[in-house]
Amino acid sequence: MEKNKSFYITTPIYYPSDNLHIGHAYTTVAADCMARFKRMQGYDVFYLTGTDEHGQKIERAAREKGMEPIDYIDGIVSNIKKLWRTLLISNTDFIRTTEPRQRAVVQKIFNRVYEQGDIFLSEYEGWYCSPCETFFTERQLTDGRCPDCGRDVEMLKEASYFFNMSKYAPRLLEHIENNPDFIQPESRRNEVVSFIKGGLDDLCVSRTTFQWGIPVPFNETHVVYVWFDALINYLTGVGYLQDDELFAKYWPADVHLMAKDIIRFHAIIWPIMLMALGLPLPKKVMAHGWIMLEGGKMSKSKGNVIDPGILAEKYGVDAVRYYLIKELSFGQDGVYSEEILVNRINSDLANDLGNLISRTVAMIIKYFKGVVPEPGAADEVDQQMQAVAQQVYGEATEKLNKMDFSNYLQATAKLVSRANKYIDETAPWQLAKDPAQNDRLGTVMYNLMESIRIVLILTAPAMPTLIQRANQQLNLWDDPAVIIWEEAGRWGTTPGGRKVSRGAALFPRVDIKSLDEEKSGVPVMEEIQAGPVPKSEEDGLAQDDLITIDEFARLDLRVAEVVACEKMKKADKLLILTVRVGEEERTVVSGIAQHYTPEELIGKKVVLLANLKPTKLRGVMSHGMILAASDDSHVDVLTVTKDIASGQRVK
Ligand code: MSP
Repeated sequence: MEKNKSFYITTPIYYPSDNLHIGHAYTTVAADCMARFKRMQGYDVFYLTGTDEHGQKIERAAREKGMEPIDYIDGIVSNIKKLWRTLLISNTDFIRTTEPRQRAVVQKIFNRVYEQGDIFLSEYEGWYCSPCETFFTERQLTDGRCPDCGRDVEMLKEASYFFNMSKYAPRLLEHIENNPDFIQPESRRNEVVSFIKGGLDDLCVSRTTFQWGIPVPFNETHVVYVWFDALINYLTGVGYLQDDELFAKYWPADVHLMAKDIIRFHAIIWPIMLMALGLPLPKKVMAHGWIMLEGGKMSKSKGNVIDPGILAEKYGVDAVRYYLIKELSFGQDGVYSEEILVNRINSDLANDLGNLISRTVAMIIKYFKGVVPEPGAADEVDQQMQAVAQQVYGEATEKLNKMDFSNYLQATAKLVSRANKYIDETAPWQLAKDPAQNDRLGTVMYNLMESIRIVLILTAPAMPTLIQRANQQLNLWDDPAVIIWEEAGRWGTTPGGRKVSRGAALFPRVDIKSLDEEKSGVPVMEEIQAGPVPKSEEDGLAQDDLITIDEFARLDLRVAEVVACEKMKKADKLLILTVRVGEEERTVVSGIAQHYTPEELIGKKVVLLANLKPTKLRGVMSHGMILAASDDSHVDVLTVTKDIASGQRVK
């Protein structure tokens, strides 16, 4: 394992003009996945994100609400921080451009570049798009409007400071040529190269038309151009001019991650600023595509944004992160759809990965009283699976190093499906019938545990809670938080003799039908009352309440076997049951924790209302309701006492 090497990764600092959406979450989750991966590889990681708080757009948004800019921004920044906590973003620091540290560094840099003659005073006249904070030449406009957002532009003339960019253009081109990995993917690199070759104008780096910014230190009627200010955050965040040790440790950045919309700022203006300062350039500037909606680009002004916090609450943070990381192919755009998200949960996570784990746990309990056996000699099929595990480890490592996130998860999925196929090929239920095959059965169980161990390590950067949740059942590690990546490359390190135990489904299935009744992104699942049905107003049955047999038949009541049960944390009344209904396993939340312990229910056959619309209770999706009789002091769960198979209808 490589020790104590540093790795510095950044996201753009986002505009806090409004709450962030799933597009911003994509960059931040992808960068987080990378940061976690590098930490698991033993690097000292610095992961920086933050907010870009100056400029006319923010000032206007605040004034429209009758607020001071800083008061307006503070509320949004606290929502952004909360969102990153919800999505388990493991950033090292969060930088705000309104902080004193940023102001000090920006002013020092501006001064220095001015003194060395690369910034000079002149006059600017041009078409200005205020939402984009950008000046355009006549030629750059599209039908007389902003080429980026399509809105109206205004002609502005102002005395401004300019940054002499053209001076550095030949050096930048040379750097790009000599460092083919500097701008990724290649399509962006080509775009940047042809832009530079088209000739670089001097960049206007100050404004006098508004005040909300960092004042130019030697001429306070000007504020520093918001992009000149914002890009410097990458230096301030790691202590430039303030903490030499920190700065020496992390600069140059290993990667600046962003979407393609702001590649030119990062691959042209920023490197030139660094050249003017005599600082080394970042090792990589990486631009991913956009997450679009079916109707086009997601934008706050169109009001069609998807709130990632709501999705995480509804489907769980691991599932949402998995979906995001998997969905955008390297450098390409992708289309967000809640239906695809749900399909991914149901197929990749619940069916393939979740089932692999729950089947393995169930078999080890059934055949070996829960104790993971030691392996015996490897058969050909065992060697094949081992080879796939090795290959997947190599591929996942390579793809993550390239920041090819989607293919990284694609690679790990290969091991999941190989392991599921291994169950079919080895047919443990047949081996179990013959006592002479006990050792072979043990080897099969061991190999399954081993593949699961590897999958959990490899998916941990994408799904940080899965390894913890699964470990409660698998008991593979004393502390999964300290797992190192290279352990996934070593077959045969699962400790035999440890005890597994059943638990709730790791990825509860989502009923796709329930989506039709919802507007995309806005959960409307109503909370049902957990547990026993409330008593009717009168205890007797009135004639008007009679229903027909057809109406009764609409209720899909089934025999269900409770295979696992646990108390819901921080909810005294709720139990989370895993019930088997025929071949299927479901999670059901029930409000009976004050009347039953989990142990009393495990193994019981209960009656399940199986076609109740799924609902989320305290963050857990419940798929059905178990029936119980109750009075003021008792609750009695209805059970089936004869040996009737689970899944049989109750009528
Ligand atoms: N404040 C500047 C960045 C300054 S960095 C020195 C800015 N902010 S922003 O709020 O507009 O964020 C833009 C970034 O958000 C994109 O580059 C990308 O990382 C992310 N995304 C915003 N919408 C997105 C999509 N629809 N899809 C993918 N990423 C998106 O620009």
